[in-house]
Amino acid sequence: MKDSFEAKPYTGKTAFEQWAEYERIPIIRNFIVPDLTSIEVKPWDRLGASGSWLVLGAPEDQLSMAAYVCEIAPGKSAKPQKHLFEELIFVLSGSGATTVWNEGEKPLSFEWRRGSLFSPPLNAWHQHFNGSGAEPVRYVALTNAPAVFNMFHSYDFIMNNPYRFRERFDHEPEYFSGKGEAHPGDVWESNFIPDIVDLPFYEFSTKGPGMKHVEIELSSNTLSGHISESPVGVYKKAHRHGPGAYIITLKGRGYSLMWPEGQNWERFDWGPWSMMSPPNRWFHQHFNLGREPIRQLALKGWGQKFPIGGWEQMFKSTEAGGDMIEFEDEDPAIREMYQEELKREGIELKNPPVTYRKKRVAQT
Ligand SMILES: [Fe+2]
Repeated sequence: MKDSFEAKPYTGKTAFEQWAEYERIPIIRNFIVPDLTSIEVKPWDRLGASGSWLVLGAPEDQLSMAAYVCEIAPGKSAKPQKHLFEELIFVLSGSGATTVWNEGEKPLSFEWRRGSLFSPPLNAWHQHFNGSGAEPVRYVALTNAPAVFNMFHSYDFIMNNPYRFRERFDHEPEYFSGKGEAHPGDVWESNFIPDIVDLPFYEFSTKGPGMKHVEIELSSNTLSGHISESPVGVYKKAHRHGPGAYIITLKGRGYSLMWPEGQNWERFDWGPWSMMSPPNRWFHQHFNLGREPIRQLALKGWGQKFPIGGWEQMFKSTEAGGDMIEFEDEDPAIREMYQEELKREGIELKNPPVTYRKKRVAQT
């Protein structure tokens, strides 16, 4: 594949932004988008489909991760791709198939549908097919394309590189069979999850009463995912980490508070098919306001198989030098606000009573 795109030295746009502009793809920048299923998409010649980039988080965040929405028209296939950035693909609507191969090999093929999660192995050829002649396919993908483009700023190196990562994918016939393995750390490792609703959850009360989750590792990536569920009338502990966790609400509604240390919070309300990303090192805390458990899928720039550091801190209390605020240490205004909101909904608070270790100044 030849392309005439060439990144120029910075004059207000990074190499990734220049590439997106060259491909005439819209970039949506925000903390949150309300509905992935209705985002406007524009023709995307390289993919032979339509799409839009989503760069979520605070405007000042370093641009390292980005998501995109892609739509493949009924009866059509996207163009074959290979690239030196990872991508996790979650199918929002429709059904179809993907073929994956390395140069000179017979393609492996697997079928997916709404709710499927998979990742084309790094730098392997892949092509997506819409399996329906009547309905479009829409998927959302998280990628580290900005980090890779901003690091190498060479289209040819990233998109036309013969290197084969055999340790990640060596044409194993069962690679996309949907088989997987459970590992310590509440991890399910697989290369294809036909429907994420079928994954078993693990208890995760570290984050709050009745919480459940499962961590997901795919295709030996650096990127990973997790699904979490929290019950009615319950809120989670706040925590913080680096940029690049993109959270899709699959079920339920509520709001999140996010704030940089020592500053006021911002509130973001969300419902099904919204996507948000907590900014770099901002504390964030999620609150269920609905009458059903919340289920959220996070696609994120780090995992447990090949961690990039710091993730153990996320579940260690701030009092012990970590990045998670225990209920006893949080601003009492946070619980008061949630109780008010629940009262309006006629829902009872289910978090157990708390005794604050010290009174803090309300951050309203
Ligand atoms: Fe988080």
